[in-house]
Amino acid sequence: MTVLASVTMGAEGTGLYDGAYARSSEELYAAIRREAFGKDIGQFSWLTVEEYATFADWLAIDAQSNVLEVACGTGGPALFLAGRTGCRVTGVDLHEAGVTAGSARAEELGLADRARFVQADARSPLPFDDASFDAVICIDAWNHFDGREAVLREWFRVLRPGGGLLFTDPTVVTGMLRREEIVARSGSMGEFVFTPAGVDEQLVGDADFVDIRVEDATPNMWEVPRRWRGAREQHRAELDEIEGREANEAFQDFLEVVETLARERRLSRIAILARRP
Ligand SMILES: C[S@@+](CC[C@H](N)C(=O)[O-])C[C@H]1O[C@@H](n2cnc3c(N)ncnc32)[C@H](O)[C@@H]1O
Repeated sequence: MTVLASVTMGAEGTGLYDGAYARSSEELYAAIRREAFGKDIGQFSWLTVEEYATFADWLAIDAQSNVLEVACGTGGPALFLAGRTGCRVTGVDLHEAGVTAGSARAEELGLADRARFVQADARSPLPFDDASFDAVICIDAWNHFDGREAVLREWFRVLRPGGGLLFTDPTVVTGMLRREEIVARSGSMGEFVFTPAGVDEQLVGDADFVDIRVEDATPNMWEVPRRWRGAREQHRAELDEIEGREANEAFQDFLEVVETLARERRLSRIAILARRP
């Protein structure tokens, strides 16, 4: 997580690629992120803007919606959503630094009246009233939650009847995995749960959600790391200097494992859409 954080916190849209020696490390990371993600919205996942816009459309989010984004990271996607649709959004994340960054960015973007960020553990009762949200979104963080029945119970509780749930699970086991691959994919990332195919949708059904739809979202999990690793490879010397050779190589190896496991369909990424009746 430390390595990931250090390479993903570049600010959106800072600077242009204008030669290695004139560039600050912030500009370098921003340029790398643009190559990896296309549009950099401060995502800390395998999410692209196109995918997020699709998810928002599935949930029919508009200016009247009140949205909860669970495990929002530094709030980039949530703020993008608020800016794009005019919705109100609340982001929660386990890490204080993430929600602090989200609040600061909301102020900068003039979105503080519609976007708030709260520190909370998704595995515990959420600090929100029953039926207070029209939609709950959680991108690429489900794999950090154990006790999923309780997590789903809370999402059900805070959703209004008819409200929509959308989450992605980036570590669905759909093939054979070697021990080293499992460690490389999950090491140093805190709580981490790999899920056998079919279990997530079963849990969602058991939690009384209806209209459950499962979509394959795996291609982003090979495209984003492929582009990210390629962009970083172009700047290997600079990154060695900034991050240290060992950390640079470790992150490149991580990206390679993510890409390979996804491309070979041994680990899949799914998006689950469901509704509270
Ligand atoms: C891969 S990042 C995804 C962040 C964001 N959803 C995005 O797409 O940019 C996973 C996030 O899950 C958060 N997280 C992990 N465990 C959590 C928990 N128990 N409760 C809330 N957030 C958690 C981490 O702090 C991190 O911000």
